[in-house]
Amino acid sequence: MDLKQAMAARHSVRAYAAKQLDEAALDVILRAGCAGPVGMGRYENLHITVVQDAGKIARISQATQKVTGSQDDPLYGPPAYILLSARAEVDAGISFVNAAGVMQNMALAAAEQGAGSVIIWASSQGIEQDAQLKADLGIPAGYKAVLGASFGYPAQTDSTLKDMGMTISVNRV
Ligand SMILES: Cc1cc2nc3c(=O)[nH]c(=O)nc-3n(C[C@H](O)[C@H](O)[C@H](O)COP(=O)(O)O)c2cc1C
Repeated sequence: MDLKQAMAARHSVRAYAAKQLDEAALDVILRAGCAGPVGMGRYENLHITVVQDAGKIARISQATQKVTGSQDDPLYGPPAYILLSARAEVDAGISFVNAAGVMQNMALAAAEQGAGSVIIWASSQGIEQDAQLKADLGIPAGYKAVLGASFGYPAQTDSTLKDMGMTISVNRV
């Protein structure tokens, strides 16, 4: 799959098959993330946590529910959840941009591997507000949870491709 196909195939997946990500696919996803753009090339300003333990994913879901107030599973029952944390002393805006670039590379790699993903905005806030969960996830001291996403294989095959239309307003000067 070339880059254009991966961009067209990537879409948010909100129902997952009960199958763990292949190790090889996970490796491709993580290496894609590590190839993402990070301010000043300071990769040490980010940390990646891969959560595949069902009990811990359930705790992240519950922590997220506390933020959203919803009873539904905000993570959509994935076999894997990937969290990006950033050094707390780095400017929050830079950390979010760093995390977005890394996460997008991982999402595109997942699509290329036949897997799917969805960013769950409130999940990092939920983790950040639960010190015990944060510790149990092994987030290094001095790092703040900034962006998390569910990953796994889609429950239903969806071969819809984006039409790559102009969804965002553009001006040229
Ligand atoms: C910053 C951000 C936060 C998001 N948070 C959520 C979320 O909490 N729950 C969810 O289901 N989707 C979430 N999404 C996914 C968006 O709804 C989705 O990317 C958007 O509707 C475009 O659809 P697509 O990803 O299928 O192209 C988030 C996406 C971004 C970029």
